[in-house]
Amino acid sequence: MFRIRPGKPYTLHFCWVAALGMLTLLLAGCQHLDIEQPAPRRDTAVKQSPSYSQDIQPIFTEYCVKCHNPRDAHKGLRLDTYQAMMRGHKDGPVIVPGRPEDSILLRNVKRETAASSGMPFHQEPLARNQVQNIENWVRQGALDN
Ligand code: HEC
Repeated sequence: MFRIRPGKPYTLHFCWVAALGMLTLLLAGCQHLDIEQPAPRRDTAVKQSPSYSQDIQPIFTEYCVKCHNPRDAHKGLRLDTYQAMMRGHKDGPVIVPGRPEDSILLRNVKRETAASSGMPFHQEPLARNQVQNIENWVRQGALDN
């Protein structure tokens, strides 16, 4: 099909080949982007009485601490320890014990806030049961348990 016929200028064929090559690269590029998408979150079991140290901090450590730590605390918020988390950020607390609906942190992971894309920032949301565990823990008083 792309055989060079006598009489036809080589440059014309070269254009076709180049265009086809570019298209292939473009498609390969898109496919590559697909592969780069983060894997779906590993889900966990819902716990009626989640413990901060066993069930909540591990979620923050895995998905949040890289942007909310002592050296790099986006919006002034640290999520590396219970005490630091309860201090909240520059606009105040992010957790209201007993009131998940008023807790900015929970509204962020549930993607209920209009202000940002939700947390983790520009990444795949947390798994449903992880969010449920954070919610149960806040509802039960957000204890350091
Ligand atoms: C890639 C970096 C990054 C990750 C990961 C990340 N955050 Fe954030 N976070 C930000 C930035 C940037 C802001 C400030 C911008 C904004 O509010 O949209 C922020 C702000 C916040 C706020 C304050 C939002 C508000 O409306 O006041 C909360 C709460 C929060 N993050 C919680 C979390 C939690 C919980 C996780 C993990 C599930 C997490 N973040 C993961 C970057 C990150």
